[in-house]
Amino acid sequence: MHDIIRQLDEKRAAARLGGGERRVEAQHAKGKLTARERIEILLDADSFEEWDMFVEHRCHDFGMADTRIPGDGVVIGYGTINGRLVFVFSQDFTVFGGALSEAHAEKICKIMDHAMKVGAPVIGLNDSGGARIQEGVASLGGYAEVFQRNVLASGVIPQLSLIMGPCAGGAVYSPAMTDFILMVKDSSYMFVTGPEVVRTVTHETVTAEELGGALTHSTRSGVADLAFDNDVETLIMTRRLVGYLPANNRERPPRLPTSDPSDRIEPSLDTLVPDNPNQPYDIKELITKVVDECEFFELAPDYARNIVVGFGRLAGDAVGIVANQPLVLAGCLDIRSSIKAARFVRFCDAFNIPIITFVDVPGFLPGTSQEYGGIIRHGAKLLYAYAECTVPKLTVITRKAYGGAYDVMSSKHLRGDVNFAWPSAEIAVMGPKGAVEIIFRDEKHDAEKLAAREREYREKFANPFVAGHRGFIDDVIMPRETRGRLCRSLAMLRDKKLDNPWRKHGNIPL
Ligand code: HXC
Repeated sequence: MHDIIRQLDEKRAAARLGGGERRVEAQHAKGKLTARERIEILLDADSFEEWDMFVEHRCHDFGMADTRIPGDGVVIGYGTINGRLVFVFSQDFTVFGGALSEAHAEKICKIMDHAMKVGAPVIGLNDSGGARIQEGVASLGGYAEVFQRNVLASGVIPQLSLIMGPCAGGAVYSPAMTDFILMVKDSSYMFVTGPEVVRTVTHETVTAEELGGALTHSTRSGVADLAFDNDVETLIMTRRLVGYLPANNRERPPRLPTSDPSDRIEPSLDTLVPDNPNQPYDIKELITKVVDECEFFELAPDYARNIVVGFGRLAGDAVGIVANQPLVLAGCLDIRSSIKAARFVRFCDAFNIPIITFVDVPGFLPGTSQEYGGIIRHGAKLLYAYAECTVPKLTVITRKAYGGAYDVMSSKHLRGDVNFAWPSAEIAVMGPKGAVEIIFRDEKHDAEKLAAREREYREKFANPFVAGHRGFIDDVIMPRETRGRLCRSLAMLRDKKLDNPWRKHGNIPL
């Protein structure tokens, strides 16, 4: 008995030491924390229950039989974030470079299976050299087991991926199938093929950071939702993000009681929209002034900046916010913004998070690059996402709602539950200038006449009443009262029930 306890202590100590002091020092020297240090910051103090500390790999090739480290390069278990259950795996780069063996994969699968059984989020901390080279196809099989679970868990439990070191080759596809990817600047990267292969195949010279670093993925590719300066910030922000999410698709998102009055009047919003319809303004000012305690958790802030998405709360309830941003490309919808918003809308719909949409959209971005790039298919994604969505949908048109983009942005016709317009709203097929140039093409040489036609069009259509006459908007509200009206509408919709017809799955234009 004593012998077993001694062995137990020794094995635990060996597991906690990971790849040894030298490798831990090397990890710290790169500005990275160890797998266990990360878990300590991510979870509530003393809440972590570790499993499978004694699991070892089963490989005998290439001298591996003599190098077994308890835990085999990944720390798994469960704990709490602000008292709420989450499952975690954290790859240990100090053990075989965090490379994934068959046993390592089985550990990850174990917590994913448990998370599905009890309905709680999975948070993966990725820091790995990829497939354990010594294990060959056993390792590839392990990855595929994880992928399969990622897919079955999608839309059932929230899945978050933190990229805190290398994540390359096929290994990128597990995070890619999760709901959120958060990266650490300068110490993490993701790519399908690394700089060496790129140099050989395409003759491009590029560093790992340029090819797949946090900045690349949070500004150029859109693969990462967020990028932070270091491990600690990434972990703390993950805790905040989890606070907006329900544990699973059968629960409502958590409530956070607030002292911010739900009928708070915000007089400054009355002057947010400039008189000149071509002058931009910052839609984030509206968002922050409307949500509880001005707290807005923005996702992908540096990618497709012409649309803003993120989480906030209204009278304590978590909501997803989608808003056109007039400051960037005049708030036009384009390929990137359509995809960014569609993905967010679908996440909210899958997890019972009501969606608030602020609309100021002059239309889809014209141009060959958009058409050749498939704006038809990609724009359709956003349309499809809004139309399919059954969670409460509240819409506020602040200014322009033109053309097809009007339809797309959570219009009444796509089952918008409550659709408000500000007095500055212009709901029309297109802007006055473009409209008269088409209808009165014959008068195009007579600038004065055309200007008069434009004035006439503006008076007739550039207002919220034409849509109001038809009930396409439910009310015209003063900007200052936006928060109160949204909070009330949300309370009214609390028990909304709406089901789509049965089908195996739809065929969203991917
Ligand atoms: C086994 C590995 C490993 C791997 C790293 N190590 N990657 N062991 N399998 N895939 C080991 C190293 O031998 C070393 O052991 C320790 O981890 C740390 O690695 P270093 O190279 O010293 O660290 P660093 O300089 O920081 O470089 C990290 C790295 C590099 C860029 C990740 O190690 C690397 O290129 N590794 C190989 C990556 C790779 O090709 N993986 C397979 C990709 S294919 P010691 O004992 O010296 O500390 C793939 C397919 C997945 O992943 C398919 C899914 C469908």
